Amino acid sequence: MKDLRGKNALLTGASRGLGPYIARALANRGANLVLTARTADALEATAREVSAEGVRAVSIPADVTDQTDRERMLEDAAAATGPIDILINNAGIEWVCEYTKLSPELIEQMIQTNLVAPLILSRLVLPDMIARGSGHIVMMSSLGGKKGSPYSATYAATKAGLIEWTSGVREELRGTGVSASVICPGFVSDAGMFAEYGKRAPRLAGESRPDEVAGAVVHAIEHDVAEITVNPGPKRLLSIANAISPGTVTWLLRRFGVYEFYRQQAEDNQA
Ligand SMILES: NC(=O)c1ccc[n+]([C@@H]2O[C@H](COP(=O)([O-])OP(=O)(O)OC[C@H]3O[C@@H](n4cnc5c(N)ncnc54)[C@H](OP(=O)(O)O)[C@@H]3O)[C@@H](O)[C@H]2O)c1
Repeated sequence: MKDLRGKNALLTGASRGLGPYIARALANRGANLVLTARTADALEATAREVSAEGVRAVSIPADVTDQTDRERMLEDAAAATGPIDILINNAGIEWVCEYTKLSPELIEQMIQTNLVAPLILSRLVLPDMIARGSGHIVMMSSLGGKKGSPYSATYAATKAGLIEWTSGVREELRGTGVSASVICPGFVSDAGMFAEYGKRAPRLAGESRPDEVAGAVVHAIEHDVAEITVNPGPKRLLSIANAISPGTVTWLLRRFGVYEFYRQQAEDNQA
């Protein structure tokens, strides 16, 4: 989708973290925005801020794990802006914890929020996009979806699911005018779930800025890119190496403190 001016983009997870950065980047390209998350006042603040770019921005609070909410939110979105041209499935949660101490409810909640909700929302908007011969879905995955980390295995499972969903559906959509992309950020500084830990990422992993993630979302839509990794330095190369020798990469990540980082975070979360 070369020109985002006047297109209607629905962004989940727009209340805080990376969401407002993605909203700003889309508004900067002239896209109208439907912003959703559960926290109404934070959504309103994002909507007010991006409206200053001269685009239409509406906030529609909803819980993406609730089917009634999902359907109502999409109806309200269509009523407010017209058909959805772009869906960015950005809402996500991670709980870093020893797997056997993770409650079944939290496992279920992570899968519902990170995997089921994006797949269902995409299922709900795709028929109309295909009928109109234009549209784009963006899935916010993670480098964690390319290499599962200890203490964050459920999160990794959901994010791996998004990568493979995109690979499959993107091909299925070929020739329809509709497409799908997946974004895989590593650790992101300044805003979002990792920044909230208040720690620096292990050097081997590196950190990216939230505006770089937002830029990747816009780039993926404008240039129809299948997958974008947002991460400085060698972890990108490690993804390639992992396809060739996963055991070696596991050893490297263990040796250079990445897995120790997760172990410490799991300990902090338990305290
Ligand atoms: N930050 C990073 O380092 C990083 C790295 C790789 C990938 N990612 C991915 O990037 C995405 C955004 O992460 P973030 O760092 O911005 O996280 P965040 O700061 O924790 O924000 C998460 C967003 O998701 C929304 N959300 C969570 N559960 C929801 C639900 N049930 N219904 C509706 N909205 C819900 C939250 O809004 P409410 O609480 O208001 O509902 C919030 O807007 C996630 O998919 C994450 O996995 C982040």
